[in-house]
Amino acid sequence: MRVFATQYIEGLKEDQEELKKQGIELTWHQDNNILTMKELSAIAKDNDGLITMLCDNIDATFLKQNSHLKVITNYAVGTNNFDKETAAKLGILLGHTPDVLTHTTAETALTLLLMLSRKINHAQKSVYKGEWNTWEPTLYNGIDLRNKTLGIIGQGRIGKAFAKMAEDLWNMKILYYPYKDHGTSSEEFFEKVEVVSLHCPLTEKTKYMIDQNFIESMNNPFFFINTARGACHIEKDLMQALDSGKILGVGLDVTDPEPMDKNHPLLGLENVVIFPHIGSATDRTRAQMTSICLNNIVAAKEGNSLTHPVR
Ligand code: GLV
Ligand code: GLV
Repeated sequence: MRVFATQYIEGLKEDQEELKKQGIELTWHQDNNILTMKELSAIAKDNDGLITMLCDNIDATFLKQNSHLKVITNYAVGTNNFDKETAAKLGILLGHTPDVLTHTTAETALTLLLMLSRKINHAQKSVYKGEWNTWEPTLYNGIDLRNKTLGIIGQGRIGKAFAKMAEDLWNMKILYYPYKDHGTSSEEFFEKVEVVSLHCPLTEKTKYMIDQNFIESMNNPFFFINTARGACHIEKDLMQALDSGKILGVGLDVTDPEPMDKNHPLLGLENVVIFPHIGSATDRTRAQMTSICLNNIVAAKEGNSLTHPVR
């Protein structure tokens, strides 16, 4: 079995020999650039399995051109870059990396929230620029998160983990947005929530969900955090709401598109923090994600169901 990874991921070199003994020939893309789908399609012809990144667009066209593939496993928990229906029809197994990145990603949301609520971005820059002159009673005063109401969109592993952190650290009251069949009533959510944090997958239902309409439904001015997918919000609507004061601050680990244009107006605002999609970026978590991908590959080779299948 031949397997190609579209980028080098932590631990592949170490595991290459061991996999060879099991009859798995593992190679990877040697550069940091993203392969075009045309390039990847040409490489896929010589392989039976792929380890893909969230920026590889594994759509119907690609899958139909490469219906010989046995398995494609995403080095991510999100799978919006996969056309699941087409893969199922073609009998290509799909995998991803849930669980191991839950805590790390929730911490990223927590970091964004603290940076906004305490104006860290702005305060830190003033020191670096030599603009901080003296201690002042009202300089960079933020707000306390204690006892505030956190609205979570996406009641999955990461949403629940972030909710627990916010409860434990700040005794925040948690309301889940009812975008499935559970959660609070949307009336209560819109009335009480003071921080909105996104932890949902990107689907037809959640695409551009945080728009002007959603923002206007909110009763309180609020902080907005997105560590899920950039296409769940509309950046120009966020801009407008920051302008009007309806949104107090925006913290994004994900943008639409990625990377964000370096001249994007959001980057010029003090109450905005943007990260380069580093939700799961710790050595340990990334190594565990590699292990899951390789376990999925081995399972496919043995003709078993994947250890971490996309459902
Ligand atoms: C990162 O965004 C992931 O889906 O793992
Ligand atoms: C702040 O540094 C304080 O002593 O209150």
